[in-house]
Amino acid sequence: MPYAPRRHRVAALACLVAMAAALLAWAVPASADEADGGRLDWGVKESFRSYMTGPIAQGEITTGDGVSTVGGVYRFHSATGEYDPDSGTASITYTGWVHFWGHDGELDVTFANPSIEYSGSSGTLYVYVNGTRTDMASLSGPAIGGQSGTVAVEGASATLTASGAQAFAGFYEAGAALDPVGFTADVIAAEPEPSSAAPEPSEAAPSEDGEVAGAILDWGVRASWRDYVSGDIAAGSWRAADGAQDGGALFRFTDGAGEAAGGDYELTFVGSVAFTGEGVDLTIADPVVTAEDGRGVLSAEVDGERIDLAEFEAELDERDGLLIAEDVPTTLSEAAVEAFSGYYQGGDEMDPLTIAVPLTADAELPALPDLGSDPETESPSPSEAEAAPAEDETSPLVWAVPAALLVLLAAAATAIAIRRRKADRTETGEAAFEKEPADQTSSTTPSEPSDEGENTKEQ
Ligand code: HEM
Repeated sequence: MPYAPRRHRVAALACLVAMAAALLAWAVPASADEADGGRLDWGVKESFRSYMTGPIAQGEITTGDGVSTVGGVYRFHSATGEYDPDSGTASITYTGWVHFWGHDGELDVTFANPSIEYSGSSGTLYVYVNGTRTDMASLSGPAIGGQSGTVAVEGASATLTASGAQAFAGFYEAGAALDPVGFTADVIAAEPEPSSAAPEPSEAAPSEDGEVAGAILDWGVRASWRDYVSGDIAAGSWRAADGAQDGGALFRFTDGAGEAAGGDYELTFVGSVAFTGEGVDLTIADPVVTAEDGRGVLSAEVDGERIDLAEFEAELDERDGLLIAEDVPTTLSEAAVEAFSGYYQGGDEMDPLTIAVPLTADAELPALPDLGSDPETESPSPSEAEAAPAEDETSPLVWAVPAALLVLLAAAATAIAIRRRKADRTETGEAAFEKEPADQTSSTTPSEPSDEGENTKEQ
């Protein structure tokens, strides 16, 4: 009887196929990359923003935890999560909150730490609404993609979900169009490359005479200034360069060096931030903070001339290996009124500043909201392109292993066929062997459940 031996062979082949599949799965590199830094831009809904600050709700909108507004839209930051380049699937969370308050407190809603689940060209936006994670909107838009280690989706349309509608007290129905969502994230390949990157540099501990280095200065200039520059009127933007970093709601000037002794300090930082737009062309560079008995002045090169920009009162406290003054209120200096074309007056409130001076090698500087790279402007340097193959290029190893498996499979199948031929010759002679191929195709689908209990047992 040819059936029992054939079933045996079928099972053996199925086993080999399963082994091959398992090995193939193992051979494909683990593909979820780590998202590390990036931003999510979402204005919630334009008409809601107008309603909030208009005559009906008479409320206000405040942002926090590093959220900035760019062109009226809220910019959340410091992406964390995962991106799988093989399937084009992202699961990324951003940081920050926006608070809507109106009707004398009857309306009091905070949207915080939004996250996206995005696959291909659609997904879901989640938001913590007064502390509860809520699926807020269904997203659909361009396919997720990117280059140079950055993924991005711009302008995904967002429609309100039923649970999201509750956040608006039912004033919008499920399916209502919300503002579009855009997000970016820097991604780090899943397989960690041997890295020589040292931990956060702390360039110098203070010398005996109070000389310090490696300090940072965080200052956002003024929130309404940034809103004006990026808003409808100036329709502009800013660019941090020369050692300055853009944290969205603040700028970080780096490499601060100088003296800090007793309550007095003088620290010179590097970096520039250039604001440009309709009627706007202002560059602030290389700020210096000087303080005596706690009274401080922040000066900078403004369009090539050093002027006093802001005044503040702060001593540096020693804490966690840092000399630090955090979120110190500042006011505009008289000398800087002209720089802002007279829109603000001397003494007007500007953004708070933070100064941090590392005293020990392992001191941790305050975290800067991490907006990630700009996906439009980045292209790989030739050396990067050489070092890291493009995501859609496949490593030769990925094909070498399956090829080897196929050879193995073919060899095994041949061996089985030869053994069977010998067996058939013994049992039924050459005629039985010749009709074998037809029998095989009709009965050897590995996943098909067997209804031939007797024969199964025979194995
Ligand atoms: C004292 C309680 C409230 C009163 C008297 C009130 C009143 C109103 C009125 C009159 C409108 C219509 C505005 C227009 O058509 O221009 C409106 C719209 C709206 N209200 Fe309220 N409201 C209250 C509480 C709330 C609360 C708790 C929420 C929750 C977030 C809320 C969310 C909204 C929304 C989303 C709209 C639509 C805004 C738009 O896109 O035009 N309201 N409300």
